[in-house]
Parts: sequence; structure tokens; C-alpha cells
Amino acid sequence: MQNVQSVERATAFSVQGLTKIYGTGETQVHALRGVDLDLPQGELTVLLGPSGSGKSTFLNILGGLDSPTGGTVTFQGRDITALDSNGLTQYRRDHVGFVFQFYNLIPSLTARENVSLVTEIATAPLRPDEALELVGLSDRMDHFPAQLSGGEQQMLTIARTLMGNPQIILLDEPSEGLAPVIVQQIAATIRTLAAEGLTVLLSEQNVRFAMHVASRAAVIERGRILVEGPIADIAADEGVREAYLTP
Ligand SMILES: Nc1ncnc2c1ncn2[C@@H]1O[C@H](COP(=O)(O)OP(=O)(O)OP(=O)(O)O)[C@@H](O)[C@H]1O
Ligand SMILES: [Mg+2]
Repeated sequence: MQNVQSVERATAFSVQGLTKIYGTGETQVHALRGVDLDLPQGELTVLLGPSGSGKSTFLNILGGLDSPTGGTVTFQGRDITALDSNGLTQYRRDHVGFVFQFYNLIPSLTARENVSLVTEIATAPLRPDEALELVGLSDRMDHFPAQLSGGEQQMLTIARTLMGNPQIILLDEPSEGLAPVIVQQIAATIRTLAAEGLTVLLSEQNVRFAMHVASRAAVIERGRILVEGPIADIAADEGVREAYLTP
């Protein structure tokens, strides 16, 4: 008889009581108001929320780019909020790939040169042509960003992220402003990465894209997680569909 095993995944990130306050006095903004969230290793989770809900703030803190006002973020058992700036630099270099909301490509460098930049800082980098092949840009290596479509530029930023051989990939609204056909390509690329065992967290405002890529979802509004669970359950929720099912 076959042994039926339930797959209990290890936790990559455990976030507890995370708060972020920007500014002081009257101009204070409470961007995160006590976020608790566990992200299983090797899962693809989407953080679904409207503009200003705290998505970028949350991703930046998990990526070691910003520090919280309060709370803890444990990555593979280590509290990254306790790291000093050297520790954070090492954490980013050795573990994290970050795809920013705005592309951040260097216009005067070709696709190959843009991804090659990472080899100077990464501990175990891929070859530029390997990374570009993974996102389907093998034939555009010598083109400059301005010669690529918006979708191709987004693929290039994903290739640059893969160069560092990360264990976690954080993508901040990777489908924003892109045509549906390109969005499908990006979704397929992201799914391939998760299938290879990477832990992926992406932020998104549209549940339709989320359904195509993610296995889990957490809904964030005004700096708080409202609901989390398997994407099928979240996407079936009336309230979520009303708020996040944009055409
Ligand atoms: N550096 C900052 N200084 C002050 N307030 C900030 C700063 N960065 C973000 N905020 C505020 O914190 C809140 C959360 O912002 P955040 O960028 O995390 O939202 P978001 O969900 O990523 O939005 P979007 O979908 O528009 O990118 C917003 O009210 C924003 O105005
Ligand atoms: Mg944002």
C-alpha cells in the first residue's frame, strides 16, 4: 500500500507584529500596523492590496532594504531585524532577489551588461547568458533597455535578480502597466522559479494575475492582513473579487 504523506513545508519567513511608521509628529504615516504572516519555503505567495496599503513597505523590510519600527522578521530561524547594516548587506547578497516596482535598469548598458553588474557583488552568480535564457531574452542580449518593450524590460529585471542565485525572490507589482500577453509570460516565468524550489512573494493589486501565479494569498489593507490562505479560497471570496477583480 502506498504511503500517503502530507507535505508540511518549512517556514522561510516568520513575521510577527511588524509595524512601520514613516515620519514624525503630524506627518506620521502608519504604513504597517502589526502584520503577522508566515511564508512557507518553496511556495509562491501573493500579497494582494490596494495602492498605499503597505505592500512595498512590507517587501522592502523582508528584503533587508528598510528596517521596521517594531516587530520581528525571522528568515530561516534568524531575526533579520536584529542585523546591523553589514549583516543586512550580506543577507541581501546571499539570499534575496528583489524585483522593484520601477525597473531600475541602467539605460546606457545592454541587457547583458545590466545583468552582468550582479556578478561583481554576488557570491555564486549565474552566467549572464544563463539568466537571460531563463526569461527568454537570449536573442536580445546586446539590446539597450530603450530597445526593449515594457514586458521585456520587466523580464530583464527578473533575469538580473536570478543572477545572484537567490533563495527568495520578492517582486513588487511585476504586472503593473503591462499588456495581458506579457503578463502571462511573466506569470509563467515566476511559476517556473517557484517550481525550482525558490520562495517567492509578490505584491499585486489584481486578483486575476494572482490566480495565475500564486498558490497562497494574503490580503493587506491599511497596513493590516485581513485574510490569508490558499489562493483558490481567497479568490472565491465575494469581497475580494469585488475589490480586486479589475479587468
Ligand atoms: N518614505 C516614505 N515616507 C513617508 N510615507 C511613506 C513613505 N513610503 C511610503 N509611505 C506611505 O506609507 C503607506 C504605504 O506605502 P507603500 O508604498 O508601502 O504602499 P503600496 O501598497 O506599495 O502602494 P502602491 O500599490 O501604490 O505601490 C502609504 O500611505 C505611503 O504614502
Ligand atoms: Mg508599492
